[in-house]
Amino acid sequence: MTKNIRAIILAAGKSTRFNRDKSKLLHTICGQEMILYPIKLLQSLEIPVTLILGHQADDIKNLFIEKMSDSWGKDINHVIQQEQKGTGHAVMCSKEHWDKENILILCGDTPLLSEDLILELIEKHNKENATLSFLTTRVINPKGYGRVIKENNKIKIVEEKNCNQEEALVDIINTGIYLINKDFLQTSINQLEKNSVTGEIYFTDIVQLASDQNLKVQTIPTPFDEVRGINSLQELWAAEQIKRSEIMKNYMQNGVQFELAQSTHLDVDISIGKNSFIGAGAIIIKGSKIGENCTINAFSIVENTIVGNNTIIRSHSVVQDSKIGQNVSVGPFARLRDNVILEDNAVIGNFVEVKKSKIGKNSKAKHLTYLGDCQMGDSVNIGGGTVTCNYDGQKKHTTTIQDNSFIGGNNTLIAPVTVGKNSYTAAGSTITKNVPENSLAIARSRQENKEKKTLSEEKINFIGAIKAKNNQTTL
Ligand code: UD1
Ligand code: CA
Repeated sequence: MTKNIRAIILAAGKSTRFNRDKSKLLHTICGQEMILYPIKLLQSLEIPVTLILGHQADDIKNLFIEKMSDSWGKDINHVIQQEQKGTGHAVMCSKEHWDKENILILCGDTPLLSEDLILELIEKHNKENATLSFLTTRVINPKGYGRVIKENNKIKIVEEKNCNQEEALVDIINTGIYLINKDFLQTSINQLEKNSVTGEIYFTDIVQLASDQNLKVQTIPTPFDEVRGINSLQELWAAEQIKRSEIMKNYMQNGVQFELAQSTHLDVDISIGKNSFIGAGAIIIKGSKIGENCTINAFSIVENTIVGNNTIIRSHSVVQDSKIGQNVSVGPFARLRDNVILEDNAVIGNFVEVKKSKIGKNSKAKHLTYLGDCQMGDSVNIGGGTVTCNYDGQKKHTTTIQDNSFIGGNNTLIAPVTVGKNSYTAAGSTITKNVPENSLAIARSRQENKEKKTLSEEKINFIGAIKAKNNQTTL
């Protein structure tokens, strides 16, 4: 059904109402740039696309080169509209690419469009053998939109600035999404004239041109939410709310429970398995994949991370760019970053930071610890307060802790260093040398207990020495 169609996406405008330095089309909704929504939708319908670029064209091109390099220059091409002289002029600029029987025209700032809606447009267009079909919607406040005026069996779109008092009251508006017979488009595009008020060439005038020739023009009413255009930051926010609840609805249908759905943020490219539970204020973004039966507790952030089944990320944890196995427990208040691998049944407890490290099966670091560049085997226990000293001021070095080792509390492991299998380090040790397998390393000063009397004499001498240094003669 979509074979005879090419889409033209208007994306050259300045985003003046958006009031940001960066083009609105590059702002994200649930982690995906706005312009990619209609593009991906058309791709899945196998409709080739021509983009009309102008304002910040290079930035938009770079986005496609980065994220859709397979299609860029093939089923997605582009033309540049040097000067933005209106939507009619924009469509004209794409003339050389009108290679299909019907041309679908839409705007780059309509991210909530659905496949079903585009298919409905195509189906009705074909069924009625129409010259031009376009989507309309009813709004509470039509301000700023082109009004759809039907009278005496004729139809036209009148832009806000050209409306008379009566037309201004019409609440059926043009969504800017049209399907047009190519031959008609070719013969009529040059008949569009400059608008009397703004001097721009409005594509909307094509409707009246068709209607005046008694060609079949068809309007298709649609729900506003799907066709809303994003012109301001407030509208971006509203669109993201809609997209987010759409994503959550899908997960809920698939057995994912949200503690406080309205406070959770999810990107469009993540996945969450059945029977998982997502706590209040959790943020799951950047392609993260959460397995089945997982718990992500309140206010945790999971970014670009794979989480295996039956794993729990306790509250207030920040997990980035990592791979977590099954039955793992992380947090509360833990931080994982920069390619951490936690194997099955590992435990990372509160106030533990792990960076670029591998933690083996059943290994545990439960309290107040920094593990950086650490290669840890299975069934290792790390005592609270342990720090891997991985950085010498110039380079990072690796700490290796082999299977079944036990690192006592408050250890300092000066990398590069290895603790062999089945070994212990005493609490409070500063480990500077490798520890062989099956050994106990003690690297701390020996405790000395002194009698109270001796102690106070020593203390007086000590204070006396300080005061003397400060040119004081008396105690
Ligand atoms: C347009 C329609 C209006 C409709 C509304 C729906 C016209 C004249 N008006 O108004 O009937 O109700 O959309 O949202 O078409 N663009 C270019 N080059 C240009 C001008 C615009 O590429 O020279 C692009 C913009 O980047 C944008 C799209 O065309 O993506 C629509 O332009 P915009 O200025 O937003 O039109 P609206 O005033 O919203
Ligand atoms: Ca618009």
